[in-house]
Amino acid sequence: MLTLDLSKTASFLPEGYLQDYQARLEKAASMLANHNGPGSDFTGWVTLPRDYDKEEFARIQAAAKKIQQQSQVLVVIGIGGSYLGARAVIELLRSPMYNLKKKDTPDIFFTGNGLSTDALLELIEMIGDRDFSVNVISKSGTTTEPAVAFRIFKGMLEKKYGKEGARERIYATTDKARGALKGLADSEGYEEFVVPDEVGGRYSVLTAVGLLPIAVSGIDITALMAGARQAMEELSVPGLDNPAWQYAATRNAMDKSGKTVEMLAGYEPCFRFFAEWWKQLYGESEGKDGKGLLPASLEYTADLHSMGQYIQDGQRLMLETVVAFEPKGEFIIPDDPENIDGLNFLSGKPLSFVAEKAMRGVILAHVDGGVPNVLIQLPAISENSVGYLIYFFEYVCGLSGYLLEVNPFNQPGVEAYKKNMFALLGKPGYEELKAELEAKL
Ligand code: PA5
Repeated sequence: MLTLDLSKTASFLPEGYLQDYQARLEKAASMLANHNGPGSDFTGWVTLPRDYDKEEFARIQAAAKKIQQQSQVLVVIGIGGSYLGARAVIELLRSPMYNLKKKDTPDIFFTGNGLSTDALLELIEMIGDRDFSVNVISKSGTTTEPAVAFRIFKGMLEKKYGKEGARERIYATTDKARGALKGLADSEGYEEFVVPDEVGGRYSVLTAVGLLPIAVSGIDITALMAGARQAMEELSVPGLDNPAWQYAATRNAMDKSGKTVEMLAGYEPCFRFFAEWWKQLYGESEGKDGKGLLPASLEYTADLHSMGQYIQDGQRLMLETVVAFEPKGEFIIPDDPENIDGLNFLSGKPLSFVAEKAMRGVILAHVDGGVPNVLIQLPAISENSVGYLIYFFEYVCGLSGYLLEVNPFNQPGVEAYKKNMFALLGKPGYEELKAELEAKL
């Protein structure tokens, strides 16, 4: 399903570097497989494509159908790992312009992922008087952004449909036993889905966290899981010919050689948000203890006309990873008898031919300019290929974290801003910190 081309990294790394990683990769893969490395409580994602809760999966499909029948709009409330995966997959498989397309599934809006008043007011205006449902997603139930948004949309639903009608339209994805949202969902009688204990937020796209909104958009979640399962089976085979092992080792070697920024580039506009998901996955997993490649993202060819100069000539910090899918369709460039633009040398050629040559030209230019390139190639964008790619990146991320000798499954740094925000907002229990921070302002 996936081809990894590392040939354009060779001139940047010592010959035989992969062999030097063999023992460390064996150890990292074994810690993932046996759930006995740092953060092992959060490695449930490793076998999730096979071991997922089939009963809940059927409930997700039924709930998606009900939402499709009952509502013209689904409002998805969540932030970070409780948001990025669903949006990434919907944009990649359905389109970044999903809401504008002619379709028989509801519009889907994501909110609770920021604190913008203007964005909230705009969303309320966009929903207008249309029927809507809400999927609130929060493991803890106390994350400020989604909690505030849920208070607002719950109130709107109750005003529009009454308490009973609102209950029929609210779906809560949260912890199975604890937390503020769990308590509220139990007492209000919302349909509930689980964020599994053993799967952290950024690894949760293939749980109810991602799957419910994804299914509402009309995506075949069975095929998505099948693609992930294929990846799980293929990538669990140990050996230096395993593309996940090769990619993890190469990233690590690049980092050590001073290429401390990894830029993920795609040639499809619908890939843009997938790269946002990828940035969280790698940034939160690796960026700790003063370590980790800085994840960045680019949309080609558009960004060649904005970031291209820096990539070619700026500080030599970067490793470039390109994800390229086969096109789903074809478009032939028309002939123009007048040829005023001088482009008739392309007449009759498929647009994908131009894109392929552009990609090859860019890779060669960047490599010549001192930017090593990793090329990941996949068949056309489909549930299968996207499921495969999700698992591939998750697995490489787990391996990479262990090669880096960090716990890839915690995120202690995220708490710092939350504590300060709670203190400055005057949350009870934070009085001392509030005084300390206000003195610094
Ligand atoms: O990856 C993570 O763990 C985070 O991004 C969380 O998903 C995010 O902070 C949201 O947390 P919660 O689901 O508890 O609201």
